[in-house]
Amino acid sequence: MSTAALSLGDVLRRASEHLGKTSETGRLDAELLLAHTLGRHRIELYTDFDRPLSTDELDAYRAVVARRARHEPVAYILGEWGFRRLTLNVDRRALIPRPETEIVVERALAHLSGLDAPAVLDVGTGTGAIALAIADEHLDARVTAIDVSADALALARENVVRTGLAVDLREHDVAAAGLPGGPYDLVVSNPPYVELSDLETLMPDVRDYEPHVALVGDRMPEVVARAAVGVLRPGGHLVLEVGDGQALAVAATLAGIGYLDVVTTSDLTGRDRVVEGRRD
Ligand SMILES: C[S@@+](CC[C@H](N)C(=O)[O-])C[C@H]1O[C@@H](n2cnc3c(N)ncnc32)[C@H](O)[C@@H]1O
Repeated sequence: MSTAALSLGDVLRRASEHLGKTSETGRLDAELLLAHTLGRHRIELYTDFDRPLSTDELDAYRAVVARRARHEPVAYILGEWGFRRLTLNVDRRALIPRPETEIVVERALAHLSGLDAPAVLDVGTGTGAIALAIADEHLDARVTAIDVSADALALARENVVRTGLAVDLREHDVAAAGLPGGPYDLVVSNPPYVELSDLETLMPDVRDYEPHVALVGDRMPEVVARAAVGVLRPGGHLVLEVGDGQALAVAATLAGIGYLDVVTTSDLTGRDRVVEGRRD
């Protein structure tokens, strides 16, 4: 980008090309970052393509585009991200909530449907996304959320305040101490499911920016499933997000532990990413 009097449309075109070299979503990234820089909604950019940008605006935009070109995720640059009906604070203290995790919430809500004041436990809550979305969409749910990371919990606490929703947050390590409280009608979790040996194969956007405690886990779906047996009420449900290619094995694990009605659900791209079962 050179000199002044560049229009918004010019700047967007140049930034899209530049970011397209390192991101599969160069145009979208460029638009989100420009809207953020100008304090506008993305859709408003389209009615303003001819507007010249001031030097200050250009400088601020260049700075965020440079961060994105170094693979920093757009969500971390914006500082907030949408999940279901909520907008949550996001930063490097916790994983960015993903679209496939919205399916986890959908399956969780299906099991809560018709229950009065159901008790729910979210294991590894990160930003609080799953717990808060359930509290938002099943109004009398009593939601507890745990995480081993004090940093993630501090961010989740900000999101409890931001959304005004009630979630009981606790620092707790499921691998070391099982699960607290109960009995729950539902245990839900998007546990870390990347093997340490696969960490290097992840995109730099993920590997170099998101917390490794949120990514890498040793048989965590099984750890959560075994611990959940002890805190679910009979007939209560477990809903787990799993990594691409892990659904069959996790479904077999759940069946082996004794869960009934083990079902897998695919995400919007057709990959099996959610495994659930019912406690006997
Ligand atoms: C994949 S992230 C999911 C975050 C959030 N639930 C979401 O779906 O966006 C996994 C989370 O589990 C937490 N975690 C990792 N090991 C844990 C453990 N042993 N006990 C409790 N939480 C753990 C991490 O700190 C991280 O926040």
